[in-house]
Amino acid sequence: MGSGLGIGLLGLGTVGGGVASILQNPNERHPLVADLRLIRVAVQDLKRPRSVELPIELFTTDPFKVVNDPTVDVVVELIGGIEPARSLILQAIAKGKSIVTANKAVIARHGQEIADAAAKAGVYVLIEAAVGGGIPIIEPLKQSLGGNRINRVSGIINGTTSYILTRMVNEGAAYESALEDAQNLGYAEANPAADVDGIDAADKIAILAALAFGGSVDRSNIPTTGISHLKGRDMDCASQLGYSVKLLAVAERMKESAEPLPLSLRVQPTLIPNDHPLAGVNGVNNAILVEGDPIGQVMFYGPGAGAGPTASAVVADILNIAGIRQAGKMENRVDPLLAASSWRNCVLVDQSKIRQCHYLRFCTQDTPGVIGRIGGCFGEQGVSIQSIIQLNANKANAEIVVITHEVSQSKMEAATKAIEALPEVINLAAHLGCL
Ligand code: HSE
Repeated sequence: MGSGLGIGLLGLGTVGGGVASILQNPNERHPLVADLRLIRVAVQDLKRPRSVELPIELFTTDPFKVVNDPTVDVVVELIGGIEPARSLILQAIAKGKSIVTANKAVIARHGQEIADAAAKAGVYVLIEAAVGGGIPIIEPLKQSLGGNRINRVSGIINGTTSYILTRMVNEGAAYESALEDAQNLGYAEANPAADVDGIDAADKIAILAALAFGGSVDRSNIPTTGISHLKGRDMDCASQLGYSVKLLAVAERMKESAEPLPLSLRVQPTLIPNDHPLAGVNGVNNAILVEGDPIGQVMFYGPGAGAGPTASAVVADILNIAGIRQAGKMENRVDPLLAASSWRNCVLVDQSKIRQCHYLRFCTQDTPGVIGRIGGCFGEQGVSIQSIIQLNANKANAEIVVITHEVSQSKMEAATKAIEALPEVINLAAHLGCL
């Protein structure tokens, strides 16, 4: 496997196996791949069957043996989670090693601490694999789009939920069996609740926002709703109205400029009009739409999870470090674009100020004037309605589906409270975002 850059691998699961397999087969890839030398691999269980065959002497069950090994130049962290990943990364940095990681959870929560340690040590922490699987999105945000003022980043950035929703819509698959298939295909997190509850997507949008807007955000304050309570009925209503339902993550600036810069971030099931570029994103695919000045809109699309695509992103980062080392630039001074250190403070706006369109489905009694009274409540709170229709009326009850224009969360809450208090309204059966 070459004699150049020493690679220490933490984790040989789905993605680790994909990385090892690329390193074992450098033919017809960039010539620098052949210079990558896999030196040590930390695994939890030495006896577990692997997708790749590696010499037994490479293995250890002690990950600190990998980060402390003086012949390891780059530590590739693929164990995920917060601890011991954070401690291993910090220890490797203290030993002067660069890091490549797919770990969105640790970067979203401890990215600033890790970036500060890396800047002090003059090493890189590269995270292309942490967001969007095989899609190159981190490097474009750091480098290719650097001349833009970014206004908004939105996307479908969790492959598991994208896969589950697509299977449910296209084949009528049951939620549980689609989730099980996603796990078997290597898309889901170790604990798939992180996928279906939107936690993984919130980690990823926090990372994208920090890069797009130049400062880290408070990960713990991102409003997050997953897909586990999403009802098939709303996917049907959406489709009748010309929309697809996706788990959408959004980060947008709320002011042209300010210090700190106010941002609105959210993750929620969202109706997307069928003619919108994100509506056609299906299966395990992810897509990230970046809106900036002067570029306008640019969309990045591709496989968002799985061994091969994620390994492709990991190896790209390793090659970046190999290239820098070959050019002789690795002497405690880092390239500011590749290192992407933050250059301003950002702050999340209060959830009540988030402005967006809404989809609501009310179950009501089917009495004359009910649509008018619901419309009246919206009007009194200054909520403008894009469309309001009655669906599926039976002898006694009706479903009233409303799509609003963009409005603040606080006005929307006041309106829904008033509507739920109307005597003919049985309940608010669903409330989703809408583009
Ligand atoms: N569980 C993640 C997903 C893997 O489904 O998108 C890639 O980050």
